[in-house]
Amino acid sequence: MRVGLLTGGGDCPGLNAVIRAVVRKGERHYGDELVGFLDGWKGVLDRQTMPLDVERCRGILPKGGTMLGTSRTNPYKVEGGSQRALDNLRAEGIDALVAIGGDDTLGVANKLAGEGLMVVGVPKTIDNDLSATEVTFGFDTAVQIATDAIDRLHTTAESHDRVMVVEVMGRHAGWIATQAGIAGGAAEILIPEEPFDIDAICERLKGRHNRGRYASLVVVAEGTVPVEGTMEVQSGELDAFGHVRLGGIANRVAQGIEERTGFETRVTILGHVQRGGTPTAFDRILATRFGIAAIDAAHAGATGQMVALQAGHIVLVPLEEAVGASKTVDPDLYHGVAEAFFG
Ligand code: F6P
Repeated sequence: MRVGLLTGGGDCPGLNAVIRAVVRKGERHYGDELVGFLDGWKGVLDRQTMPLDVERCRGILPKGGTMLGTSRTNPYKVEGGSQRALDNLRAEGIDALVAIGGDDTLGVANKLAGEGLMVVGVPKTIDNDLSATEVTFGFDTAVQIATDAIDRLHTTAESHDRVMVVEVMGRHAGWIATQAGIAGGAAEILIPEEPFDIDAICERLKGRHNRGRYASLVVVAEGTVPVEGTMEVQSGELDAFGHVRLGGIANRVAQGIEERTGFETRVTILGHVQRGGTPTAFDRILATRFGIAAIDAAHAGATGQMVALQAGHIVLVPLEEAVGASKTVDPDLYHGVAEAFFG
């Protein structure tokens, strides 16, 4: 078989591990020819490819980013784009495509499957917000990076009796904030699923500091919003999938805290640091398992399916199911565990 691969959307530690696994099993076990499309769906539209083989994948397992490059190109937002994608894949002689991405990339894969493309999806996002899989690779790495940052901020916060507001990624779901906040001992965790009340937060912080604590860590997911009408927030430009470019809510939260409490407050926005660098062992292993399962699925003719982790096992689920709704933070984890340490 001639198997195509692409990585789309924001990059994520573990992408190279998936590519390596698909290539390894494809070449050595199935005798496949493998070809990479550069920069996600853009490479399909522009017919930008590179040959892939075991030799070319040597040494990429621990490397962050993606050797294929990535973009947020959406063929359905380009005039005649989906037909061009299908024509180009046919012209390249692709029998099956492995699309590695988040809900946007896999949403396109799902639509193209409906138009007759043989495609298997691999879920990727540091946000961990894809349905149908318990976890996506990249998430564990992001949580570890955020936790390390919170640990470091604790010591400087304590030295200066300050409130530290740390902004982490998480557009629609606050998984990174919740887990890094629990792991790092945050005094408050603000997530998109739960609009925040700045007055209530400040009352809890004041109570905490009255009890003799003079430093507090507040973790904020970038997609967090205040309870309607309580605070003004800025909006940014949109990308090809209609997402607002986020970043900066932590500044508004910090300002609100300082004004209401008088506590000296500083902001750290972790941003793309969370997506860079080497994946954790957990992410390398999960990515490798996904890659092996994806090439097996391609050979089994499982088109329109996505590999997923469920109860510790790799399973196949319809792409439709995976991209239908985003997976938000488990209320039991947020209210039952994280919230027990607020204030
Ligand atoms: O891939 C998901 C994500 O990391 C989000 O958490 C974040 O909002 C977004 O990507 C950032 O996108 P970009 O890399 O285009 O700035």
